[in-house]
Amino acid sequence: MDFKLNDEHVMIRDAARDFAQNEIAPVAEHYDQSGEFPAPIIRKMGEMGFMGIEVPEEYGGVGMDTIAYVLAMEEIARADVATSTIMSVNNSLYCHGILHFGTEQQKQTWVTPMASGAEIGAYALTEPMSGSDAGTMRTRAVLSDDGTYYTINGRKSWITSGPVAHRVVLFAITDPDASPKHRGISAFLIDTSQPGFERGKVEPKLGIRASATCEIMFDDYKCPVENRLGKPGEGFKIAMTVLDAGRIGIAAQALGVAEAAYEASLQYARERVAFGKPIGAFQMIQQKIADMKSRIEASRLLIYKAAMAKMAARESGARYTTDAAIAKLFASETAMFCAHQAVQIHGGMGYSKELPIERYFRDAKITEIYEGTSEIQRMVIARNELKLR
Ligand code: CAA
Repeated sequence: MDFKLNDEHVMIRDAARDFAQNEIAPVAEHYDQSGEFPAPIIRKMGEMGFMGIEVPEEYGGVGMDTIAYVLAMEEIARADVATSTIMSVNNSLYCHGILHFGTEQQKQTWVTPMASGAEIGAYALTEPMSGSDAGTMRTRAVLSDDGTYYTINGRKSWITSGPVAHRVVLFAITDPDASPKHRGISAFLIDTSQPGFERGKVEPKLGIRASATCEIMFDDYKCPVENRLGKPGEGFKIAMTVLDAGRIGIAAQALGVAEAAYEASLQYARERVAFGKPIGAFQMIQQKIADMKSRIEASRLLIYKAAMAKMAARESGARYTTDAAIAKLFASETAMFCAHQAVQIHGGMGYSKELPIERYFRDAKITEIYEGTSEIQRMVIARNELKLR
């Protein structure tokens, strides 16, 4: 396997790094503290193509591959995880599903404004009573007698970018009698400016505070039948296919924050003196540095492998579920490990708001939770290995 980056990859990585370090890192603390949505940054990221990296140019994106996507994601997350979360949901969970399952008309109408960053997309699967067990959702979509529209009722929770999203990919039950239950779920494209769509209060969170999250409610929302994504009953498959792609992005995001924590620790271990020596001269600190570095490099290889599997799947149609789950599991646990070690290496300064270390620690945690918890990733990997469902 050849991991040499081509010129295009180097170009996007360097552009993302420059932008992230010069324009995101200096304001990350401000947005973390205020919990404000970083609208000016997202607008610029849209102009630079970061909101639709894999979207073909004809639909407003830059038409690059998954390696380009993970390289950019890593750099943005290294500066600020919250900003990279907004980028991730727009690219993977929103655009990817429509590109994969949408009609030509849907791609033109629903992807183009999001890929250019002019508008923001969200993905609504989770409900108050249905998280990891996504198939048990209750939101209902009922087809009208004349078959022209669905009436949607229900609520979705933990919707990333929910407070600002212009459009949403939504999953709802169209056939409550289906057996198994997940075959009664369909996917819909929602315009949030239409009557019947409401947003709940913004969720106060431990980390990624600038990535706005809220509940969204549907109260007799009328969805034209042409805005159903895929066939009736295909919604669960769409949700899972999209999460396979999304999990690779979250893995890259986790890698970014792991590296930020590692780099800060390296510098501190060289500069901080205790007992007459830089603390990096002590074996207990060296062990932490070695373990952080090893896990970061292993994560990178798993992410590139999953990205390559996704690119190969475009031709073969094969699933890359296990590769994506392994990359997300390992990289997110690496992020948490590195953030934890970074706090420990920095001691009191790691716990202080004067340095970004405590933010890395708070932000890293979400990568083990959203788009499938570490427990769900282990379940997916083991079921696929055991060939059990
Ligand atoms: N790709 C395509 N199809 C898939 C699939 C995949 N990766 N995984 C499962 N399927 C299909 C199966 O083939 C099966 O189809 P058939 O009935 O036609 O054979 C169907 O889906 C059901 O599969 P399972 O029996 O395996 O389903 P399950 O109910 O046991 O659940 C699960 C599987 C993997 C646990 C799934 O529920 C899951 O991934 N849960 C986690 C949900 C999650 O990640 N939520 C995150 C919310 S989004 C978020 O966090 C976004 C954000 O805001 C940042």
